[in-house]
Amino acid sequence: MKILVINGPNINLLGLREPQIYGKEDYNFLCKSITDFADKKGIEVEIFQSNHEGDLVDFIQNAYQKFDGIVINPAAYTHTSVAILDAVKAVGIPTVEVHISDVSKREDFRQISFIRLACVKTISGHGFNGYLEAIDYLIENYGN
Ligand code: DQA
Repeated sequence: MKILVINGPNINLLGLREPQIYGKEDYNFLCKSITDFADKKGIEVEIFQSNHEGDLVDFIQNAYQKFDGIVINPAAYTHTSVAILDAVKAVGIPTVEVHISDVSKREDFRQISFIRLACVKTISGHGFNGYLEAIDYLIENYGN
């Protein structure tokens, strides 16, 4: 099984950005946790991050017929991007939405998620562990 992990804007600044919300560990730590977990589970994983909406659309489009599942934290684009929603709908790959913080307990503008409409599951507020839970969910429900 091959899973694509996509992170949106400012996720590269983990550790530095609002540590009281996103924690003290950095982006490299997140990537290592994901690759270690994938190794343990015996699956393949690729990880991409971009601060640009179009790049996230490209990552999703390029996954077509190459990946069996997507884990995505679109970050701020969660709340604004119809383009990312449409890309997930277009490729038809089972996709799990992840947020490090519990967006349901934050500002009103974070209560909207466009991508959620195309996702098989949302995990929010479980910190970095949410990415691992998302991978587990995809293995259990879509692995062979
Ligand atoms: C986030 C929550 C978003 O509202 C925010 O814009 C982010 C990160 C999270 O992981 O908790 O950048 O997706």
